[in-house]
Amino acid sequence: MSVIAEETKPLLLSVDGVTVDFDGFKAIDNFSMTLEAGELRILIGPNGAGKSTLCDTIIGRVQAASGKVRFRGHEISGLPEYEIVRRGICRKFQTPGVVPSLSVRDNLALAARRDRRWWRGLGLAVPADERARVEEILEIVGLADRADVLAGELAHGEKQWIEIGMVVATGAELLLLDEPTAGMGPNETARTAQLIHSLVGRHTVLVIDHDMTFVEALGGKVTVMHQGKFLRQGTVEQIRNDPEVAAVYLGRSDH
Ligand SMILES: Nc1ncnc2c1ncn2[C@@H]1O[C@H](COP(=O)(O)OP(=O)(O)O)[C@@H](O)[C@H]1O
Ligand SMILES: [Mg+2]
Repeated sequence: MSVIAEETKPLLLSVDGVTVDFDGFKAIDNFSMTLEAGELRILIGPNGAGKSTLCDTIIGRVQAASGKVRFRGHEISGLPEYEIVRRGICRKFQTPGVVPSLSVRDNLALAARRDRRWWRGLGLAVPADERARVEEILEIVGLADRADVLAGELAHGEKQWIEIGMVVATGAELLLLDEPTAGMGPNETARTAQLIHSLVGRHTVLVIDHDMTFVEALGGKVTVMHQGKFLRQGTVEQIRNDPEVAAVYLGRSDH
């Protein structure tokens, strides 16, 4: 807390010099980034850059060989995943996935209750505030008119939205969304950008993607990762016009 910037804008997450080593291959190489509370950050980089591994490291599924991850000023690197989740970080796909035989509404209610269990024990009745929250999330993710449909019958895009809804329902402060537009067409992608926008403020959101169209629709600050290393950070505009970022994206094979 000695840095002035930290005093004026509280850091929610700080990744400090993290290296992840898979049998001698550095999937993440001395990587650092910070997130302020309430911000929307987009992490981009070509396939294999280390983005998903970074998510795994933040959530405690992969251990860093060196470096530290701090959440609300407390070190979380080395903690088990359930403890990191309990502290308020949720990764899409980290929760057990959607239950196909349950309705959209019941899936969201289940996700909301899973969080409550940590601190209140399993109650028999669903409290009114929790029920209201589920209805609110149905609206946020645009599935209110699909609430009674079985999750297994949803279209591909809708399945992504319910997964995002389940992450939101856990009440986590920091949401890690790894490629939320995977397999979506342009309309669904645009709607996903809107959805994510509506989460910002209440949550801090780290979105991973490599689709520049989506990144432009999202706006916000962009961090670029390449071969496990920090490459660049800036606005969408700055990143779009950065020759080194363009070179990395065009030279995907990295010769
Ligand atoms: N469990 C693992 N063991 C070995 N190598 C891995 C493992 N997970 C990921 N990698 C490698 O680490 C690099 C980064 O992968 P990943 O984080 O999935 O990249 P991205 O999400 O940016 O596409 C890739 O070269 C990938 O093959
Ligand atoms: Mg990935």
